[in-house]
Amino acid sequence: MPDKAHGIANFEDKIIDGRKIAAYIESSLKEKVDYLKNSGIIPCIYVILIGNDPASVIYVKNKENAANRCGIMSKKIIIPVNISESELLNKINELNNDSLVHGILVQLPIPLHIDENKIMEAISPDKDVDGFHPFNEGKIFTGNSSFYPCTPFGIIKMLDYSNIELKGKNVVIIGQSIIVGKPLSIMLMNRNATVSVLNIHTKNIKCWTKMADVLISATGKAHLIDESFVKDGCVVIDVGIAKLNGKICGDVNFDSVIQKVSKITPVPGGVGPVTVAVLMENTVNAALQFLTNS
Ligand code: GUN
Repeated sequence: MPDKAHGIANFEDKIIDGRKIAAYIESSLKEKVDYLKNSGIIPCIYVILIGNDPASVIYVKNKENAANRCGIMSKKIIIPVNISESELLNKINELNNDSLVHGILVQLPIPLHIDENKIMEAISPDKDVDGFHPFNEGKIFTGNSSFYPCTPFGIIKMLDYSNIELKGKNVVIIGQSIIVGKPLSIMLMNRNATVSVLNIHTKNIKCWTKMADVLISATGKAHLIDESFVKDGCVVIDVGIAKLNGKICGDVNFDSVIQKVSKITPVPGGVGPVTVAVLMENTVNAALQFLTNS
């Protein structure tokens, strides 16, 4: 019988602690926030929540809490699901024109009758703290965007913080969403990784995942990944969040893969808190850019 307590102690150094990294990012913002305040500016983010999807409500609450910790003013606008596209566009326009607002975020997903692309394009690129405006997305290619999307940027920061080299590594991403997989693939290429992006139509997923030095799973399918998907020494980044038997879990069956992996992000306490911390960093940077340009 394996010694469970002994095993857990060993496992601890495999864990990439998202809460610790988020706290480090947040604390490093303090100096910038103080500088802004001394210049008469309180960094301010507006979060627009359409409807009351329980997961979105929790994510928005986490963002508010982080803003409070960082000295950022956060305002929430809750809008009924039957809002029309033009009403939402008007609201965004109002915020674009308000010089006291530095960051605007529309929590996704949004109702199907509203064109998500139109909404992302309506947010001023200077206030696009999500990094989803096509102007900022395009700049990911050249590696000089003002606002990188928070989850991909958070993942890169977690890998850097853990001293995981990306150059020359096989990185496999499962999921090609606009929020995670697509921007992350470019950001990893900018680091000279060899990147494969899998999608729901990919055949023989395990053939790909077993080649991965770094496996990043962003599907939202609880416990999709077990030990049969990973090679020995693989770094596993779990972007999924779902509920299984009433418990929050990720795409990765942690207990199954832990023996094989060299590093892993847990769920909860992995990518999630770092994503929120990067949003705070983007907001502070938006306020700094406003100060520079004013
Ligand atoms: N929903 C899930 N992740 C995100 C995100 O990073 N930004 C926004 N706006 N909505 C999300």
